[in-house]
Amino acid sequence: MREQSQYLEIIQDSIKKISYPPHPKGLFEPIQYILQLGGKRIRPVLTLMSASLYQEDITDSIAPALGLEIFHNFTLLHDDLMDKAEMRRGKPTVHIKWDNNTAILSGDAMQIMAYQFVGRTPASVLPQVMELFSQTALEICEGQQYDMEFEKRDDVTIVEYLEMIRLKTAVLLGCALKMGAIIAGAPDSDAKLLYDFGENIGLAFQLKDDLLDVYGNPDLFGKNIGGDIYNNKKTYLLITALNQANESESQILRDWISKTDFDPQSKLKAVTALYDETGAKASCEEKMEYYFKLAMEALDKVDLDENRKSALRLLAKELMYREN
Ligand code: IPE
Ligand code: IPE
Ligand code: MG
Ligand code: MG
Ligand code: MG
Repeated sequence: MREQSQYLEIIQDSIKKISYPPHPKGLFEPIQYILQLGGKRIRPVLTLMSASLYQEDITDSIAPALGLEIFHNFTLLHDDLMDKAEMRRGKPTVHIKWDNNTAILSGDAMQIMAYQFVGRTPASVLPQVMELFSQTALEICEGQQYDMEFEKRDDVTIVEYLEMIRLKTAVLLGCALKMGAIIAGAPDSDAKLLYDFGENIGLAFQLKDDLLDVYGNPDLFGKNIGGDIYNNKKTYLLITALNQANESESQILRDWISKTDFDPQSKLKAVTALYDETGAKASCEEKMEYYFKLAMEALDKVDLDENRKSALRLLAKELMYREN
């Protein structure tokens, strides 16, 4: 298996080489913009790493891997609109730099491009890959819908939250790994275990994203801090804080949640203090470690020599300690 950085290089080079129709610029420029802004590229890298476990030559997996990255970036265009987020990867989001309709339509076009790229899968496994991809894509929409509906509710449970993040985030990581495995001809049992590995990494990954949204360094994170708090997102942090708060803490937290007109910095400061005091932050970190462990256990069961799996273990670990 090559180094993670070599897979990243393959992805970066291939993204640079994507060609776009010349017109209309208003449709394609935002697509190029978001795809060139960077990002960690973990989904396509996972696909290539997974394929390389079973195949020396991973060329067949490159286009489908790119398809997943394009799909992911499409979800970001719509997600930033839905979340009223103004910064992504250290730059203005598409709906800010252009406008809302541009984010919608360029996003739509990206979704179609994603299907084109995933469709360049070898014919022998195409039906299986398409089914996996389509199911995953639909699940992400389901997760995003719950995410929005939960903003308006204050009785969301941890179980509901975990299912929501499984859908909106974790399934795509599972899909990325399984897709590489299928294309490279892995045994079904391994493909499934790699999916489980990805799904658990994905749950830990979203818990970390929620932590960074509150505690991250904005220069490194590339997104504005506090967006989840302003939107009353029912994150693990908020649900746990509500569950563990004493009477006065609970009152303060519920007051902030119910305010429609507030000073953002004051809300961020007050709610963050409650996350610290109620132990919500510590609890979220523990839960993240728990899913990381489950991911490692799934990887343990993949029927390959340990030295072949170490790069995936390392990548998973890096994601837990990331700052962006
Ligand atoms: C952001 O994904 C959306 C989440 C699922 C949290 P990433 O954190 O992978 O974003 P990029 O692609 O690296 O910018
Ligand atoms: C994003 O969750 C999940 C998808 C984009 C499908 P978030 O809303 O937390 O992602 P960020 O923080 O904006 O990247
Ligand atoms: Mg968002
Ligand atoms: Mg969101
Ligand atoms: Mg987030």
